[in-house]
Amino acid sequence: MITGGKPLCGEVTVSGAKNAAVAIIPGVVLCDEPCRIENIPNISDVSVIANILRDMGAMVRRVDKNTLDIDPRPINTFEATEDSVRKMRASYYLLGALLGRFHQAKVALPGGCNFGVRPIDQHLKGFQLMGAKNELINGAIIDLDATESFHGARIYFDTVSVGSTINIMLAAVKAEGQTIIENAAKEPHIVDLANFLNSMGANIRGAGTDVIKIRGVDYLHGVTYSIIPDQIEAGTYMAAAAATRGKYSVTVRNITPKHLESISSKLREMGCEIDEYDEAVIVDATQRPLTRVNIKTMPHPGFPTDCQPQFVALLTTVKGTSIVNESVWDNRYQYVSELVRMGANISVEGRLAIIEGGHLTAAPVKATDLRAGAAMLIAGLVAEGTTNISNISYIERGYSDVVTKFQSLGADIKKVYFPDKEDAATTA
Ligand code: EPZ
Repeated sequence: MITGGKPLCGEVTVSGAKNAAVAIIPGVVLCDEPCRIENIPNISDVSVIANILRDMGAMVRRVDKNTLDIDPRPINTFEATEDSVRKMRASYYLLGALLGRFHQAKVALPGGCNFGVRPIDQHLKGFQLMGAKNELINGAIIDLDATESFHGARIYFDTVSVGSTINIMLAAVKAEGQTIIENAAKEPHIVDLANFLNSMGANIRGAGTDVIKIRGVDYLHGVTYSIIPDQIEAGTYMAAAAATRGKYSVTVRNITPKHLESISSKLREMGCEIDEYDEAVIVDATQRPLTRVNIKTMPHPGFPTDCQPQFVALLTTVKGTSIVNESVWDNRYQYVSELVRMGANISVEGRLAIIEGGHLTAAPVKATDLRAGAAMLIAGLVAEGTTNISNISYIERGYSDVVTKFQSLGADIKKVYFPDKEDAATTA
């Protein structure tokens, strides 16, 4: 429940990166010793993937809110076919991790936020080139078998894909010989996963460029590893600062503000002042009226698709016509109808959203997926009146302590329970 209209100010600290955590935790499956993972975000996606590992036999202990000890040695199955696996997109990283460890993997097909078709053909192409036969069982379970031969390969991705790059990296770490991934994704969490694997003794070079070379090793030793801060969470708070015409510091420890460059430069183009420090950026949207911009989402280092809904919410508050081009997903505007209920003037034509800035008023709205939920939060912080957002479990999948963080910035926001209402975030 949010009453809008207050410019936010103060300081907010960004948590560990969701999309790094959900790759690194399955990555522990490859390790031959226990690991400690720090700076884990306090989100439901992490609990789900940790429980999946537990169900497979791993010993997973929560040391504190942000630290997990994982001993993967007791895992004695290459199957992950429970319903929980289906609910979470990132559980498909178990394909690469289990294939790397057992040369076999049987994993339920992932669901995921509904942005249209989400194929995994590039993942399967990579596994096949590494020697794995694959079969789809009953349209629901992917069965990979590389027991006859499992080896490195040269893999060119037809499209830049975060998930395929991560999955092949995981599979290749212990495969015999060298794997070369060409046209790899370059997101900060890909570099973080490579750093984690290398710290255990893997041999990965080139992560963060479009060619990654992995030479297989036999043994990975246990480590203590701290996950990088969440670039998208940082971008969300930066967009909220701008939308409420506030001024505050977004603290992003252990990440270079370089990772936020595409977001910072868009906000500067709109008229915000952005000051970058080693571990923080200060966003000041109070100096001049903000102006309209166009945005095209692209793989990193382009403008991230995972910040697109939040920026559309911001642009509804800025005078003039802005055009957003979503070039990564073919259907990531399902939340627009919710913003329209709040008075936003947005029309969607294919991959384009045309936004005429104006005035938002409170309305009951639904989070239709994780970042859509973040857009509703931003819209609610700006709108006149009190906005109720339902389905907030989608937001809690990916944002740590979001209510307390916004409260600490001065927002009038609280979490309210309606026990009779269903709140059903079932996919990731
Ligand atoms: C990851 O999804 C993220 N999820 C998404 O974040 C993010 O939107 C996306 O990368 C792009 O940055 C996680 O990290 C868990 P892709 P992923 O493979 O890996 C096409 C969020 O809000 N493609 O990079 O599933 C695909 O259709 C979530 O935090 C193929 O054609 O995305 C899409 O158009 C939502 N064949 C494009 O590539 C394939 O085999 C990028 O997808 C794989 C992908």
